[in-house]
Amino acid sequence: MEDLISSSLPGMRDLLPEETGRWQLVEEHARRIFARYGFEEIRTSIIEPTELFARGIGDDTDIVGKEMYTFMDRSKRSVTLRPEATASVVRAYLQNAMYRGGGLTKLYYMGPMFRHEKKQKGRWRQFYQIGAEALGSDHPAVDAEMIEMALWFLQSLGVEARLLLNSVGCRNCRPRYVELLQAELSKSVGALCEDCRRRAATNTLRVFDCKVESCQPHIERLPAITDHLCAECSEHFGKVRAFLDEGAIGYTVVPRLVRGLDYYIRTAFEIVSGELGSQNALAGGGRYDGLSEVLGGPPVHALGFALGLDRLVMILPEEQGAKGQGRPELFLAHMGEAAMKKAAEIARDLRHQGFSCSLDFSAGKLKSQMRMANRLGARYVLIIGEDELARGSASIKNLEDSSQQDIAIPDIAAFLKSHIQGRTA
Ligand code: HAM
Repeated sequence: MEDLISSSLPGMRDLLPEETGRWQLVEEHARRIFARYGFEEIRTSIIEPTELFARGIGDDTDIVGKEMYTFMDRSKRSVTLRPEATASVVRAYLQNAMYRGGGLTKLYYMGPMFRHEKKQKGRWRQFYQIGAEALGSDHPAVDAEMIEMALWFLQSLGVEARLLLNSVGCRNCRPRYVELLQAELSKSVGALCEDCRRRAATNTLRVFDCKVESCQPHIERLPAITDHLCAECSEHFGKVRAFLDEGAIGYTVVPRLVRGLDYYIRTAFEIVSGELGSQNALAGGGRYDGLSEVLGGPPVHALGFALGLDRLVMILPEEQGAKGQGRPELFLAHMGEAAMKKAAEIARDLRHQGFSCSLDFSAGKLKSQMRMANRLGARYVLIIGEDELARGSASIKNLEDSSQQDIAIPDIAAFLKSHIQGRTA
């Protein structure tokens, strides 16, 4: 016999039934909330031409430089498992000429992303995002509304979340700011780590991502981008903040927040939670007005965010999406061939009426069927034997308080409806 392949790849994991209930709850909540804001779902390919991410996210970023799952497919084309979905959404928007009708296009997505990062708590190589993108407007109210939606989504799940906000300027003002940074960095070049020295030359803003202790005093002395925005960016940033203030949405301006992707212009934000460890970013996003052109399309104003589903589920309050969404409302225990057939018929009928039912066809002794009902976490057990069958009744047992009573078979649905709280079926 071959060796058993018994583990997944490093950084990958299976989500087992005891966890998926919480995932489903979060996904359904996102669909509900996003729909209220007028977002519609888009599902793009998980695998894309490598060029899409290289150009979209930027060659000098860690994602493109070090983390992508890139390989040659059988047609000798370089392809990549998506490390994020914004570039794919813009590609789909352009490919399907979704800009044609004019106005705002609001899209959301959820699904797996792939980054070959160093393993750490809160960091996986296959992880899941829920994201939203609004394409077709540069109005600062759109930025504020997007942020409001992300925060409301998290807060309505009972999650503690804080908003960090910045403006990273535009193609007019950023180059001047980058020159200023480079001039400042050149003064302390000998004291900087190797990564910072490389970044200073290739992708200067990334210097702010450095975590090396000895670089921090030098990084803290660098000028703040918010003091070097052009008049248009400054006005836009002021309006975004004013709209947030009007909505009583709290935030902290963090001029060192530059985000790890190159496409951002103007608004950049992160939502962090103290309940997470060192990987404390729950969500990140911003405006990316130039991305469409980088991908060969017409100019399109756009912004969006994505939140890390794995991280959100980690800190979801216990009462949210309690485990065992698949708990049967009724387990049907049966004794004898005729009772088994009757149980199957009752289960089919109840399922059609909206109840979740389980039964064990291998039909062990009543004791082993009761054990199984307990293991599945059933609320009630219906016990049907030959005698009960002859009487047209069965016995129904509440597994929570062990009370038991006889019930006529046609009354089972009405009984469940009135005894299971919150049931509308
Ligand atoms: P990002 O900041 O790279 O942005 O990722 C967004 C969120 O995904 C992070 O805040 C984090 O919660 C989660 N995340 C990222 N990497 C991992 C990982 N290795 N393991 C677990 N969770 C992770 C983007 O991806 C942009 N596309 C967001 C965006 C949309 N900007 C505009 N529109």
